[in-house]
Amino acid sequence: MEFQHTPVLLKETVEGLNIQPDGIYVDGTLGGGGHSLEIVKRLTTGRLIGIDQDECAIQKASEILSEYSDKVCLVKGNYRNIKKILKNLNIQHIDGALLDIGVSSYQFDEGERGFSFHEDAILDMRMDQSMEKNAKDIVNSYTLGELTEIFWKYGEENWGKRIAEFIVEERRRKPIKTTLELVDIIKKAIPKRKRQEAHPARKVFQALRIEVNDELNALRDGLYGFVDVLQPKGRLAIITFHSLEDRIVKQSFKDLARDCICPADFPICVCNHRAKIEIVNTKPIVAGEKELRENQRSRSAKLRIAQRKQRENYHDTRYIFTRTMDSREKCTEGQIEKS
Ligand SMILES: C[S@@+](CC[C@H](N)C(=O)[O-])C[C@H]1O[C@@H](n2cnc3c(N)ncnc32)[C@H](O)[C@@H]1O
Repeated sequence: MEFQHTPVLLKETVEGLNIQPDGIYVDGTLGGGGHSLEIVKRLTTGRLIGIDQDECAIQKASEILSEYSDKVCLVKGNYRNIKKILKNLNIQHIDGALLDIGVSSYQFDEGERGFSFHEDAILDMRMDQSMEKNAKDIVNSYTLGELTEIFWKYGEENWGKRIAEFIVEERRRKPIKTTLELVDIIKKAIPKRKRQEAHPARKVFQALRIEVNDELNALRDGLYGFVDVLQPKGRLAIITFHSLEDRIVKQSFKDLARDCICPADFPICVCNHRAKIEIVNTKPIVAGEKELRENQRSRSAKLRIAQRKQRENYHDTRYIFTRTMDSREKCTEGQIEKS
């Protein structure tokens, strides 16, 4: 299948990163390489490290970025391990990073991956095919309480408890294996007249996908990890697609931009917390009219950007590249771990 993904807020993100031609940049969610391509075009002696946990994305992006292979290193891995990935590349600090959270259009469109409630497939939803737990395991093994909790926490689904009850009832008869079996159960659980969503399975599928890929914890870990490795004035740009993700970015940026995080009723500061970043845009950047018309996905996209503050006792120990940048084989997370 052809890899189709139109990058959202492309111009705004690339401008927001304030790219230095000799800098080192990380695209933590490479996908089809759309954002990466625009970043690498602006580099002279600089380098781009592209990370994705999906092998298909790495393959596709390596084609799109082939013209710039001397400036690009692609790593199959999870961006939440950014510090380990950079350490293995002998890089201490970077000049900017991008996270374009969530699923690519390609992953949705490729029916057999199980992300789509329109296509019949095994309930999989793993972005990283080497992970053990998929959506089928969750649907068939989580308790009623656990299912109810994730449908509420990650899907904000008001009918979560009833859907979980229907799932537990159904799997007593036989295991639930496919996307359309699950869609049928959800349709039985939510009365037709009460359905408000465009598709009654949307929220449950979102919740399962987030749980399978541990997306919100990865975002939280990754965000703090990236801030730690940014050079002073280096920027972190994050694009989110729903309120759960945006809330994490907004709150984490706020906490990281504050000097003291003691409770308001403490008479003196005991936390010794020092601000690490400045927030570049207090209001999220959203798509303009043209993009909204041309790309449906942009409707819910929000871009937030933060800039690293000067570190105390900061030494400019810039990056040392000892690895071949254009060799993908040498740059997979697993292989780096071993070396
Ligand atoms: C929305 S797409 C990115 C699209 C990309 N910006 C482009 O222009 O083509 C998100 C990508 O991030 C990857 N991804 C999501 N979470 C990840 C994580 N924690 N670590 C690494 N990759 C991740 C997904 O596999 C997917 O390919």
